Amino acid sequence: MADYLVAVLSAVCWPCVAKATLAAFVLYLLVRFAMRTDGDLTLRWLERRGKKPEEELPGKVIWITGASSGIGEEMAYQLAKIGSPLVLSARRENELERVKKKCLEISQLNDKDILIVPLDLTQRNTHEPATSTVLKHFGKIDILVNNGGRSQRSLYVDTNVDVYNAIMELNYLGTISLTKPVLNHMIQRKQGKVVTISSVMGIMGAPLATGYCASKHALMGFFNSLRPELTEYPEISIINICPGPVQSQIIQNVFTEEVSKTNANVGDQSHKMTTERCVRLTLVSMANDLKEAWVSDQPYLTVCYLWQYAPTWAWWMLNRMGKRRIQNFKSGVDADISYYKKTS
Ligand SMILES: NC(=O)c1ccc[n+]([C@@H]2O[C@H](COP(=O)([O-])OP(=O)(O)OC[C@H]3O[C@@H](n4cnc5c(N)ncnc54)[C@H](OP(=O)(O)O)[C@@H]3O)[C@@H](O)[C@H]2O)c1
Repeated sequence: MADYLVAVLSAVCWPCVAKATLAAFVLYLLVRFAMRTDGDLTLRWLERRGKKPEEELPGKVIWITGASSGIGEEMAYQLAKIGSPLVLSARRENELERVKKKCLEISQLNDKDILIVPLDLTQRNTHEPATSTVLKHFGKIDILVNNGGRSQRSLYVDTNVDVYNAIMELNYLGTISLTKPVLNHMIQRKQGKVVTISSVMGIMGAPLATGYCASKHALMGFFNSLRPELTEYPEISIINICPGPVQSQIIQNVFTEEVSKTNANVGDQSHKMTTERCVRLTLVSMANDLKEAWVSDQPYLTVCYLWQYAPTWAWWMLNRMGKRRIQNFKSGVDADISYYKKTS
């Protein structure tokens, strides 16, 4: 009788145990992937299976704003290596010369393949002449990368409203102003890509960056509304990139409580995504015409997903993260210090 029971139990239970073990293993793999991934699912899939930047972007004339440091500078290097003629813009001409020199050193491009066009995004009357300069030199613009911009570190209650005006002038109005003459040219050619470096802060909110988040939300709203205005031009793509924290000069350059006040709390940036990785995923998104791509480590990536599907949970997480950001800021370190490290 006992032997019979053991035989029956074995026959019934072992398949259950095997299935449960398999399910637990699959769950473990999924959680491991989610903890380590640094882009949304579509982007990570296309990184493996989609079009390669090395095949899609050589020979394309690409205009990068904010090319004098950080993400824009690194993008210039990666695109130069691929063989894309470049237009480099920002306010600091000497820094653009430095970036151009390095681009020429690391690539097969010639001097005339890289054009420097100094440009202040807030000087809107200069955007049309700058576009004419580029067209005179290259005859076309295949891709505009709207990258120039500045972030913010200050509590709303302590911040002069002039700061909000300056952030919107630069990040939002400056960007859509330069886009206009370039897009007109793309419409004439019936092709082109407008790539805008927005932010995960264009999807979620974050304390100490009320103006910055507002400007990035404005950009997302603008470009998401512009895209369906262009449906008769299927070869024109509007691409929004949403990075999380990335190593760059952004914290040195943030707006604070007053327009003229600089930021003293720069701190360690080493826990952030590398500039190289952010740019690589951005180029994959450009090559594959992704409408929106999230380029971020955790926990921001999870918050982005929650924000879309379960906003109340997202708020719970964001309030906890926000409390830590404000504590960090008030204790004199950068707000973005890793959520896994304790501040002393
Ligand atoms: N790093 C991050 O964590 C992160 C995350 C999400 C999104 N982003 C976005 O990525 C973009 C690039 O930032 P980054 O991180 O590379 O910071 P960054 O190193 O400070 O670079 C900002 C660039 O913008 C240019 N710029 C600033 N004010 C300008 C103006 N008035 N006119 C024209 N250009 C101007 C700067 O050049 P000049 O000073 O020479 O003009 C510089 O080249 C920004 O739009 C930022 O919002 C960054």
